[in-house]
Amino acid sequence: MSRTKKLMTLERFIHEQEHLHPSATGEFSELLHDLSVAAKLVWREVSKAGLVNILGSTGRINASGDTVKKLDEFADETIYRAMDFSGHLCVMASEENEDILQIPEEYKSGGYVLLYDPLDGSSNIDANITIGSIFSIYKRVSPGGKGKLEDCLQQGLKQVAAGYIIYGSSTVFVYSTGRGVHGFTLDPSVGEFVLSNEKIVIPQKGKIYSMNEGNYRNWDEGLQKYIQHITEDDKPTGRPYSLRYIGTMVGDAHRTLMYGGIFAYPGDKKNPDGKLRLCYECNPMAYIIEQAGGRAIDGKKRILEVQPTALHQHTPVFLGSVEDVNLCEEFLQGKR
Ligand code: AHG
Ligand code: MN
Ligand code: MN
Repeated sequence: MSRTKKLMTLERFIHEQEHLHPSATGEFSELLHDLSVAAKLVWREVSKAGLVNILGSTGRINASGDTVKKLDEFADETIYRAMDFSGHLCVMASEENEDILQIPEEYKSGGYVLLYDPLDGSSNIDANITIGSIFSIYKRVSPGGKGKLEDCLQQGLKQVAAGYIIYGSSTVFVYSTGRGVHGFTLDPSVGEFVLSNEKIVIPQKGKIYSMNEGNYRNWDEGLQKYIQHITEDDKPTGRPYSLRYIGTMVGDAHRTLMYGGIFAYPGDKKNPDGKLRLCYECNPMAYIIEQAGGRAIDGKKRILEVQPTALHQHTPVFLGSVEDVNLCEEFLQGKR
């Protein structure tokens, strides 16, 4: 009988990974498990959003000036409530809340910090286009008691885990704890995330670039020259690059991870720091891309080395295959 692929659930995988860390207490595994439960709760609403009155806007504006959609708010509260009583977190922070989110008094405070973008790609919800959730986990740095802002403003290279859930044609939980990147596809019939992509490695070079060219005229000249270069017709290497852009960072970054190429949300004359947030979008995505063998820069330095100074600060981001990010960086720095 041919050996079928091992049926490894996310829960089993997390525990197997735990045994690789002799000093592991199991706290981290429980934290990741709780996160996977939150992901299923969000998926349940996302997958039937069109059937219940959960589409559309709340009329609220968040810290980044974005209109908050009902599903944003639902996902935000769902993740917070699924995580606040776990006893593993000392503080949380989310795109949808201006300030850090304390753990309720009645629950134990723990040694970890969770930052998250509860629903990424909100503008795509009403058109049924791929959306996602993004998370980033750190060990606390403050001495004890209630978590503090300093716990949330750590460099991305200090992350102990990061990942995302992509609600697309299938729902996939992608994460890394520093030992490679792994993907688990939700099997709705049993309600389990099942290992579907063990040790994802990003191609060294791709043929896709992904950025909102609607902003082209406001980009700096180096980036404009890069786009002209990779889309020139008479390229000895055959067809020039193709443009693919979903407008959901999770979707564009996941396709870049799987197929290679480059995703970017550059700064421009109007918004020098771009649109994406460092703490709960760019740092977790940069961690995943680097763990898969790719690169993630802000145009000058490694995203993971940027020292955050504010929870919702923006950063330009260029991430993807090493050769593609390297070439783009040469143009950005005027070397080509
Ligand atoms: P969010 O829905 O969490 O605010 O994120 C939206 C972001 C990101 O997902 C995507 O890459 C970017 O907005 C697209 O922005 P443009 O529509 O300006 O291209
Ligand atoms: Mn987002
Ligand atoms: Mn969001």
